[in-house]
Amino acid sequence: MASNLKYESQKLGIMYFTVAAVLFGAQLLMGLIAAVQFIYPSFLFELFDFSVARMVHINALVVWMLYAMIGSVYFLLPDETGIETVGIKLGKLGFYVLTAAVTVVVLVYILVQVGPASESTIWLINEGREYLEAPRWADLGITVVVLIFVYNTFATAIKGERTGIMTVIMADLMALAGLYLAGMFFTDNVSVDQFWWWWVIHLWVEATWEVFVGALAAWGLIKMIGARREVVEMWLWIEVAMLFGSGILGLGHHYFWIGTPEYWWEIGALFSALEPVPLVAMFVHVVYDWGKETGAKHAEGQEATQNNSPAFAWFVTNAFGNFLGAGIWGFFHTLPQVNIYTHGTQFTSAHGHLAFFGAYATILIGMFYLGVQGTNGIKAMRSTFASKMALGLITFGVMGMTISLTIAGYGQVLVERAQMGATWEGYFVSQDALWFLQGMAWRLAMGVVTFIGFVYLILDLLTIGKSKIHTR
Ligand code: HEM
Ligand code: HEM
Ligand SMILES: [Fe+2]
Repeated sequence: MASNLKYESQKLGIMYFTVAAVLFGAQLLMGLIAAVQFIYPSFLFELFDFSVARMVHINALVVWMLYAMIGSVYFLLPDETGIETVGIKLGKLGFYVLTAAVTVVVLVYILVQVGPASESTIWLINEGREYLEAPRWADLGITVVVLIFVYNTFATAIKGERTGIMTVIMADLMALAGLYLAGMFFTDNVSVDQFWWWWVIHLWVEATWEVFVGALAAWGLIKMIGARREVVEMWLWIEVAMLFGSGILGLGHHYFWIGTPEYWWEIGALFSALEPVPLVAMFVHVVYDWGKETGAKHAEGQEATQNNSPAFAWFVTNAFGNFLGAGIWGFFHTLPQVNIYTHGTQFTSAHGHLAFFGAYATILIGMFYLGVQGTNGIKAMRSTFASKMALGLITFGVMGMTISLTIAGYGQVLVERAQMGATWEGYFVSQDALWFLQGMAWRLAMGVVTFIGFVYLILDLLTIGKSKIHTR
């Protein structure tokens, strides 16, 4: 495809987006297999293990989101700094190394599904840490590629113009990359191991990734509705201060039952309960800026518009989704008094799905559309039928899965925990309860809806650039 992009850095961004979209599809297929196995446990028996489907599902999730985030930085870097990315050749090499490593890791997961664990399997096959199962050799490779990426970003921002958005991204990348190291060493003590593992998992999604999304929302609003930089950057700084405040000690909500001292009950309860506050601020940020720009344009007698309707729709979905999935569904189970009943039930999975989707998948899909707009040199991009089907079906599907899982989790809380006292027997009784079974069936049905939406999304991303409805 002939590209209208001026900078190599933006083209590299598109390469990252492309792999991200492929991995997103792989994630959904694995989710569907796991969801079928919940209902028909003999499905693919001895061919494809549930544990592998589940593992690839959530690792592909983390990896596609990291790809899309790295791609977003390469894409916006020349725009913010006004120059080509420093060391872009090295950046491209990093992309190929990372993509080759990811391919090998996934192939090994699929070829070696079961077997004994030893020191060498940690190095070669699987580190055994949920969400971060990449073997040690891949960890080292990832670290090198991330160092290249951080070098590209820092060298470019130092040489070119340095905006507030860039300053936030630079600080955030340091924290994001640094935290990954906490998940790289192994201890035999499970409590200690979990303690550090949460530094990556929680401090990523509830601190560094959220700050990153704040920076993307700020940049996107400037691009799409011409929001005033002073206004969006002011919001961004407020969010950074609040997110780092509540997110860091909010870590305590994972330390209730893993063998850490009991003062984590109070710390976790208080600070994690405050976590929805910055999410409300991010929501207000998008809606307020939108209203402000619209009002200003109307006052000048112009029609207020945005220049990329599919991307803008996904950004708005992000503001709602982040607030609902992380803020509301997170708050539901964050107090130890509640969590003692809900811990590790399908309720957790309901929150996990809506939060990852609402806070990250949405805005990153919005970035894909900004990428397509740039590649095709479109001044004002309009939604097609497929754009609307993609947004509608994916959002409806994920909401549907979330509600099914919430109901299944509610059944578990009542039967397994409250009634049967969290016993081994209680676990199995609740797995056979009608509401649980129906919840699993509805989750599968809604998963299929999500997948159809995804097919529309890919069709749209591939063809929307050629449509005649846009202003060139
Ligand atoms: C976008 C941000 C967020 C994402 C992506 C996210 C995702 C997740 C995921 C995937 C889990 C399950 C982890 C596991 O496998 O054990 C989890 C657990 C949890 N999350 Fe979040 N979360 C986010 C924000 C929040 C917020 C803001 C709160 C509280 C207000 C919260 C409260 C919790 C709690 C209490 C658990 C533990 C559940 C249990 O005990 O089983 N989360 N989160
Ligand atoms: C086709 C649609 C999907 C289906 C059928 C599906 C199905 C599943 C299944 C069966 C599991 C394992 C649950 C368990 O062990 O109890 C799972 C876990 C998970 N999925 Fe999905 N999923 C889908 C889409 C998504 C999407 C779009 C996201 C996020 C953007 C996502 C994020 C997660 C997360 C974070 C977990 C781990 C939850 C936890 O540990 O609590 N999934 N999914
Ligand atoms: Fe957390």
